[in-house]
Parts: sequence; structure tokens; C-alpha cells
Amino acid sequence: MGQQNSENGVSSSKTERSALTLRRPDDWHTHLRSGDMLKAVTPYTARQFARAIVMPNLVPPITTIAAAEEYRSKILAALPSDVDFTPLMTCYLADSIAAAEVEKGHQEGVFTAAKLYPANATTNSSHGVTDIRLIYPVLEAMQRAGMPLLVHGEVTDHEVDIFDREAVFIERVLSGLLKDFPELKLVFEHITTAEAAAFVAESGPNVAATITPHHLTFNRNAIFKGGIRPHLYCLPVAKREKHRLALRKAATSGSTKFFLGTDTAPHEARDKETACGCAGLFNAPYAMESYATVFEEEGALDQLEMFASVAGPTFYGLPLNEEQVTLEPIETKVPDYIDIPTGRLVPFHAGEKLKWRFKAGSGTY
Ligand code: NCD
Ligand code: ZN
Repeated sequence: MGQQNSENGVSSSKTERSALTLRRPDDWHTHLRSGDMLKAVTPYTARQFARAIVMPNLVPPITTIAAAEEYRSKILAALPSDVDFTPLMTCYLADSIAAAEVEKGHQEGVFTAAKLYPANATTNSSHGVTDIRLIYPVLEAMQRAGMPLLVHGEVTDHEVDIFDREAVFIERVLSGLLKDFPELKLVFEHITTAEAAAFVAESGPNVAATITPHHLTFNRNAIFKGGIRPHLYCLPVAKREKHRLALRKAATSGSTKFFLGTDTAPHEARDKETACGCAGLFNAPYAMESYATVFEEEGALDQLEMFASVAGPTFYGLPLNEEQVTLEPIETKVPDYIDIPTGRLVPFHAGEKLKWRFKAGSGTY
């Protein structure tokens, strides 16, 4: 059952694991970057996912309809000709952003959602929001339009311990925000704590969360195992084991509130392996293999389709994808690095063997 002969370095599986067919998944949190990097990384996301929410934290950030349209064309131009992929654009909320631009962009089908970065919370967020009250008119319009607000949920106060910044964000910002905008559609992005998972589970149906493969896979100890591991550094930073276990429980629960968002955030190896390394993991190349590993370990492969292909579009009010993809129970060796024209990228799971292999396009529903 599910046995394959060795071919191109692929070894056969010895157990009774069988292939898994599911609706083609979507990635609800993706960084596709710009320029040469955009060209190099976009095909990886497009290979596995039918759609992706594209984060707007470029330099300069995507704050206008015109900029989002231009960015979308560049993404489409970077796609291989045989790949069907839809980038879903987002608007970067800055203190000065006009509610009318956000609303119009949504009405015109350019902005699927808007992203809230607290100022200086993460990579390229210096133009982010300094005080949530400054964007209340925008949030008013978004609530009215049913336009999702995507939240990087960390306080930026350096007095707050880095491992507590997500939990403190819930207390200081998120609870009040949802009291003031009880109907606002909100995605708590890349959650990393038991507190965030509980908050989302207990909130109304208008509140959901994305979960990355890396926060399901390792805890904060891994970042320091045998020396500092820059390729495991991302924001929000991984937390202690109990939080990873809470995330696994949420992701595999079958709830429509938790869905796939890789937060693939490529930086060249030289920008991570340095005295002040960038935050972000490049997990797009083996994203589904990584999630499948987690779901299998949890005995919840039957919930993978809900998490990867159903819960996200249901929350966003978009149709489910009709194509099918397959995860074959074939061992896959992840390379140590991937060369790109300007340097190299180290993918998540570099040098490891994963027990699954993604295969595109096996049929339709
Ligand atoms: C992201 C990036 O590099 O753009 N980095 C990260 O560690 N996740 C930004 C973000 O999503 O916070
Ligand atoms: Zn991100």
C-alpha cells in the first residue's frame, strides 16, 4: 500500500501509510518580496497553493490601490506558465491611511484584506500603526464592508519580554479592539501561544487565526540547540513547548477558526547568518510536507484538508478550490540550501528528511 520504487533519490515507504488526496490548499499568509527575490520564490508558493494572501511589507509598503495592482502584475509575471495561482493582495495600514482608499480597494476587488503591523514589530514595519485609535475610521469602514483585518499581534514595548509580547497584545490591544468593533472580521496572524489559541477559540465566528508549520514543529529551545540557529529565528519568535502543543491541538481540532498560513518569509542566507540577522523562515518549498508531518504525528491526517483547504476560504467568504492535490507517503530529502541568482536561501527543514511528498494536480471535485 502506497509503496513506490526508489527513483531520483526517493526511497520507498515501509509502512502501511497511504497517499492522501485533498482539495488544493491556499496559503493565508505569504511574503513574496520584490525584484529578483520575488521571481525566485513565487513559483514555490504557486506550486503548492491555489491562492495566497500576499503580505504588503515591501519597501515602500503597499498602501495604495495602484501599488497593489502593480505588485499583483509583477507576481503574475513571475509565475511559471503552467501554474494556476491567484495572489490575494493586502493593504498595509499606516497611521495616515485614508479609509476611502481601503474601502474602494476592497470594493474594486484589489484589496482582499488589510494588514495591521504595530510600528516596528517586525521586518519592514517602520511605517506601521503607532496607535490603533488613529486608524479607527478605517476599521469602521472595514467592519461595514466585511473586509478582514489581519493582525500582527505583538506589542512593541521593549519593556515587555519578547516571549510575552503576543499574550500582552491580547490584553492591551486586541480585547479592546474587538469590544469597539465587535463585528470586525479579524485574523490573528501566525499565532504562537496557548493564550492566542484560547482567545480565538473563545471569540465569535468573526475571529480566526493562521498557524505556521514552524510554530507547530519546534519550540524556542530549538533556536539555541548546540549554538544559535539563525534559520529558526522568526517573529513572533517560537515559544515554550506548552504553547507548541496548544497550537497543534488548535490546528488539528477540525475547527474552522484555525487555518493554514505559512508566513514564508525568505531572506538570503547572508542576511540571516550575520551579527544582526533578519527574522523569517523560508518554508514555501516543503510547506505541505511539513504540515502533513505534524498532522500525522497528531493522528489527525483526516483534519488536514479542513485546516489547509476549507477553513480559510470559508472564513474569507471565497469558494473552495476544485482541483485536487496528493500527498504521497514518500520520503523527501530537503536540500541544505536553494541557490537563487543573487545568493542562496536556506529552506525550513534544510538537510532533514520529511515523510511526505507533495504532488500537484491529480484531479478535480
Ligand atoms: C516577516 C518578514 O520577514 O517579512 N518575518 C517573520 O519573521 N515572520 C514579517 C512578519 O511576518 O512578521
Ligand atoms: Zn508574515
